Amino acid sequence: MHNYIKPLHLELKKLEIPQTILLCRMNLAEKDKKFVWHPFTHQKSMADPIAIVKGKGSLLFDEKGNSYIDAISSWWVNIHGHAHPYIAEKIYQQALTLEQVIFAGFTHEPAVTLAEKLIEHLGSSFHKIFYSDNGSTSTEVAIKMALQYWWNQGFAKKKRIIAFKNSYHGDTFGAMSVSDRSVFTMAFHELLVEVIFIDAPTSANISTISQIIAEHAGETAAIIFEPLVQGAGGMLMHDAEALSELILVCKKNSVICIADEVMTGFGRTGTFFAFQQLTEQPDIICLSKGLTGGTMALGVTACNENIYEAFVSDDKLKTFFHGHSFTANPLACTAAIASMEIFENENVIDKIKQIENWNNQVIEEIQKHRLVKNPRICGTILAFEIDKGKNEYLNDISTVFTTMALERGVYLRPLGNTFYWMPPYCISEEELDRIKNVTIEILNKIATV
Ligand SMILES: Cc1ncc(COP(=O)(O)O)c(C=O)c1O
Repeated sequence: MHNYIKPLHLELKKLEIPQTILLCRMNLAEKDKKFVWHPFTHQKSMADPIAIVKGKGSLLFDEKGNSYIDAISSWWVNIHGHAHPYIAEKIYQQALTLEQVIFAGFTHEPAVTLAEKLIEHLGSSFHKIFYSDNGSTSTEVAIKMALQYWWNQGFAKKKRIIAFKNSYHGDTFGAMSVSDRSVFTMAFHELLVEVIFIDAPTSANISTISQIIAEHAGETAAIIFEPLVQGAGGMLMHDAEALSELILVCKKNSVICIADEVMTGFGRTGTFFAFQQLTEQPDIICLSKGLTGGTMALGVTACNENIYEAFVSDDKLKTFFHGHSFTANPLACTAAIASMEIFENENVIDKIKQIENWNNQVIEEIQKHRLVKNPRICGTILAFEIDKGKNEYLNDISTVFTTMALERGVYLRPLGNTFYWMPPYCISEEELDRIKNVTIEILNKIATV
């Protein structure tokens, strides 16, 4: 006998209470639990979600009037603070003008202006901007672009991808394939494309991994990496020098370099893009998250002229057959332009430096705590492992930490036992101090359990 749940309308019929009345009596969190399925959330143990009704600067406000400092910029996207009036106004004006148009055969001002602005920031070696919808699609596009680059030129054997251990590049199938095998991908392992995973580069291993690249060069289309910080894999940081050397080795071996800057882009690591701390340039860059200031979904894959030229041919089969309904959505492009204008108008790079300096000061205090292991900083990100339980994503310490921090008015969401903060750049010094004090208070409590 199946132990299934009866459809809601049958249950209501039995009770003879009209569905509309019942639904009216529910608060937002109850209705959410009835109808919505949340990402990366264990359904059975899921607590009631917090209904957020408003955001302002670095604060989020719930329906009960509580406020929370958003110490992780709402999954690393919100760089200028919530509901920024400048971005909101620009989106509003654009919505009254042109909200959406097919991007094949048509173009529009926000898409062109944004492409021009991005190329200005990326530097002259970048040539074209390809739009998509989010971080996963931006890496998916990059992988397809690299594979087809070789196919278009008759090098059909070059179809292998190299990626870093502990990498994360998104949740669509191509993006999952180039992400290290983990609890996120376990159900799909047999279906994923085979990828060569190498250690992230260090001065100690660079000659070993260079050898691996040289050995596989004939069959390898591209390497994909998160420059300087591997985010979801545990805020793991590697140095710019070794990564530069790796890119050089790839170039010598005709392996296309894809820098996934979905998380590291737009100031996160201290420079506008993380690759600007390297001495070598990647061929393809993936952007999303902070691209629109965290207001709207948009993905960008930028490439150099060499990559683009492989798609310019009389042969129609060499077309890049990829696109999404909302490619270059005018509202999202407008938000991205506004976000980049805020960088210029509000001295955002200075604010990033202030957060970096503050990180450098507080790490002295944080690293003295006996539960703090491997403390590290890159730009606006501070991370360490909480020395409690197993070092893994499913460590319950994450939920415990998040709950205790929320009770204290701060939103933090460790990745398993990897603690980190990554605040919006508009955050005040008092708010930063509050995040640090709450972190230490919780570590003290956890240490006594
Ligand atoms: C480096 C990196 N690439 C790609 C993605 C996927 O982005 P999205 O969640 O927008 O699909 C993420 C998301 O966290 C990321 O950190």
